[in-house]
Amino acid sequence: MFFPFFRKKKKEKRRGPILSVDVHSHLIPNIDDGSQSMEESLSLLEGFEAIGYEKLIITPHIMSDSYPNSAETILNGLEELQKEAKNKGIALVLEAGAEYYLDEHFFEEMQQEMIMSIANRYVLFESSYISKPLQIEEMIFAIGEAGYEPMMAHPERYRYIRDPEKEYRRFKDLGVHFQVNINSFGGHYGKQAEGLANFLNEAGMIDFLGSDVHHRKQIDTLSELFYSEVYHKVFENNSIKNDRLL
Ligand SMILES: [Fe+2]
Repeated sequence: MFFPFFRKKKKEKRRGPILSVDVHSHLIPNIDDGSQSMEESLSLLEGFEAIGYEKLIITPHIMSDSYPNSAETILNGLEELQKEAKNKGIALVLEAGAEYYLDEHFFEEMQQEMIMSIANRYVLFESSYISKPLQIEEMIFAIGEAGYEPMMAHPERYRYIRDPEKEYRRFKDLGVHFQVNINSFGGHYGKQAEGLANFLNEAGMIDFLGSDVHHRKQIDTLSELFYSEVYHKVFENNSIKNDRLL
């Protein structure tokens, strides 16, 4: 006999597409608000490997007030992490970019010889969550002047976005790529961020997905979201470019 009701109840949730490359995380120990020790970093790397990632482009904050990082601090930290990961048998490919904060030093930073880009192509940037920087368009332009393409970190998290259609479209017209945090779809950053992530998803405006992992719990929530309906929809509605960076 056939009982559709029972069959439905027993049906396993389907996992969405596996992302091989992550473009946003805070896994270099002790240089920002992410991992606070080498031990923690290695455990986070094991977590990423266990859920299917092959390559992580780690993006420490460069924020002059709180995290005054430079190419030097980031690359030294990366080298140390690569060495320890190799000793532990972790097969992930590890690279580093940065998450640049749009502050008064940003123009200077874009004129430096060594810019911490993603895949030698994109500059990942974030701004205040509360107020849109007055010179945001000039700052985006400065990324282009330096020879890179702008990638906005978690556009869904900026509370200053009042008119998503108009404001996001304007950024797109300026050539900005959008990197949405996967955890935003699970409400990890609150209702407004979830709503804006859904808006970007339905509008087909998402270019990259990021984990933005600072600590272990965010890997657990991430791996649950891989089974959600909304995660499947992201790949139906958008052209996700992460794995072009493999
Ligand atoms: Fe971040």
